[in-house]
Amino acid sequence: MPFSMPPRFPIPSHVGIIMDGNGRWARKRNQLRTQGHLEGLKTAKRIVQAASDLGIACLSLYVFSTENWRRSAGEVGFIMTLVKQYLAAELEFFRKNRIRIRHAGDSEGLPPDIAEEIRRVCRDTEDFEGLQVILALNYGGRDEILRSIKRLLAAGVVQEDLTEAVFRGYLDNPDIPDPDLIIRTGGDFRISNFFLWEGAYSEYLFLDKLWPDFSEEDLRDALVRFAGRERKFGGIPGNPADGIMA
Ligand code: FPP
Repeated sequence: MPFSMPPRFPIPSHVGIIMDGNGRWARKRNQLRTQGHLEGLKTAKRIVQAASDLGIACLSLYVFSTENWRRSAGEVGFIMTLVKQYLAAELEFFRKNRIRIRHAGDSEGLPPDIAEEIRRVCRDTEDFEGLQVILALNYGGRDEILRSIKRLLAAGVVQEDLTEAVFRGYLDNPDIPDPDLIIRTGGDFRISNFFLWEGAYSEYLFLDKLWPDFSEEDLRDALVRFAGRERKFGGIPGNPADGIMA
């Protein structure tokens, strides 16, 4: 049975997840870090299905940051191969569930075969109108801002025309709404260079659970907690005049 929320429950349009804790999950079991990533991938698949069932429009997964290249060559190679195999193996699942795959990050810094596989899957799924899964791969928030600036300079945008809305148009995925909710697993209270521009007014949820242990029920709980948050975007809900008192 598809995973669902109570009727009339507000579902966020865009949920971002910083999937942390694969390595610790493996260490606790005396296993290799790579085993943690394999389990992490299984969790990601379950959460993609759950997000699709729940009617979330966009799900961003922080898979590999611009800083993750500092890990051992073996671990980096393993994660890259895992991503490539995932994309190839899940194409039928994406088709069946009308899931569209997008990429955030610098594709030029990726191994050519990985970049090509991402391009292919993004192209093959671009007409699907269901859940959009944004894979943040070789992604850094600072790097995205710099690349966006380079793109807008190359497009000839002049200083007088530069507004937040114009700048936004040069991000990696300008049509994707800012994340309403960003979840980080693994117990740390930091955002690690994820969606620096897009996450300015996101609600954040930091969970102790390690990513491989994160369940569909945890996603559902996160949405319930999100629904209980009051979003103000810098304003004073209900009584704007209160904000102007001397
Ligand atoms: C964090 O755990 C996880 C990563 C660096 C990314 C790897 C993610 C996956 C393999 C999931 C793949 C998902 C898709 C959709 C392809 P960590 O290694 O930083 O854990 P630690 O903090 O416990 O060491």
